[in-house]
Amino acid sequence: MLSTESAALVRATLPAVAGALDEITTRFYGAMFRDRPELLDGMFNRGNQASGAQRRALAGSIAGFATALLEDPDTRPDALLARIAHRHTAVGVTDDQYTIVHKYLFAAIAEVLGDAVTPQVAAAWDEVCWLMAGALIAQEARLYQDAGLEPGQIWRQWTVIERRTETPDTVSLLLRPADGQPAPRARAGQYVSVRLRMPHALRTETRELAGQLPNARAVFWYERPGAEEPHARGGLMNLDGIQLPDGATVFLCGPLPFMRDVRGQLLRAGVPARHIRYEVFGPDLWLPGPTA
Ligand code: HEM
Repeated sequence: MLSTESAALVRATLPAVAGALDEITTRFYGAMFRDRPELLDGMFNRGNQASGAQRRALAGSIAGFATALLEDPDTRPDALLARIAHRHTAVGVTDDQYTIVHKYLFAAIAEVLGDAVTPQVAAAWDEVCWLMAGALIAQEARLYQDAGLEPGQIWRQWTVIERRTETPDTVSLLLRPADGQPAPRARAGQYVSVRLRMPHALRTETRELAGQLPNARAVFWYERPGAEEPHARGGLMNLDGIQLPDGATVFLCGPLPFMRDVRGQLLRAGVPARHIRYEVFGPDLWLPGPTA
């Protein structure tokens, strides 16, 4: 299935691409979530993003698929993709989203490998990616059809009707479909996706911890402030009007774009760079320059 010309080019460049996949996928997700935040908010699991697990899974699957194609160019290694297709349908991936992923993935490959990506090399990898995408799209269409669902229309409201504490750190929840219709048939080993809104995550913990410190004051910014924290400021963190203590040492943790922005504000407010410590949530590719 992979053309002879592409197979030769993929074989020649597989070590370079595989070696750089970690950086490629890091940039890919960074750019995609920057431009399409709705994908991160509600579809991707933030824990897997932060730990790098999703990045590694994507990189491993592309390298594995390309290797299998090279070993047997006439057969599309569909069996390798069954687990991914199940995972995708469990979170409602649709075929139009493959164009988005493709755009950002290829931009990241070109950015990381630079001049090594000649138009011929790009075309060969394009063929691999579309073979993979085509196989996934077909498997996912079948899974949606078997489940009697429109592609992507997977979410249903459920109500928690009982909560049992099993051990100090384990609870069991009993759920019932909110529309009164029967629950779908359960299948052994199936994925079950649960999606919840987390209004103002870590608010209570932050208040409690700040309460244990002498002279501490917590200031909150929320994109959508609510009644639970009536004095929260609206929008993204903005240090204008915040009195910073003299000689403060600042600790930042969060995703990269947030830290870049806040670090810039702190530098402009006169906090020396050596007094700003940070921890990245997610892969750390940040080399802060003087203006970052
Ligand atoms: C050729 C293209 C793609 C490849 C190779 C790919 C690969 C993967 C792999 C390997 C996994 C992990 C499966 C596992 O748990 O074992 C995964 C999960 C996932 N993929 Fe894809 N994928 C592709 C396209 C897409 C598209 C178009 C979307 C939608 C925007 C998407 C969204 C997701 C999501 C939301 C998960 C679950 C991740 C989580 O745990 O947060 N993928 N994909």
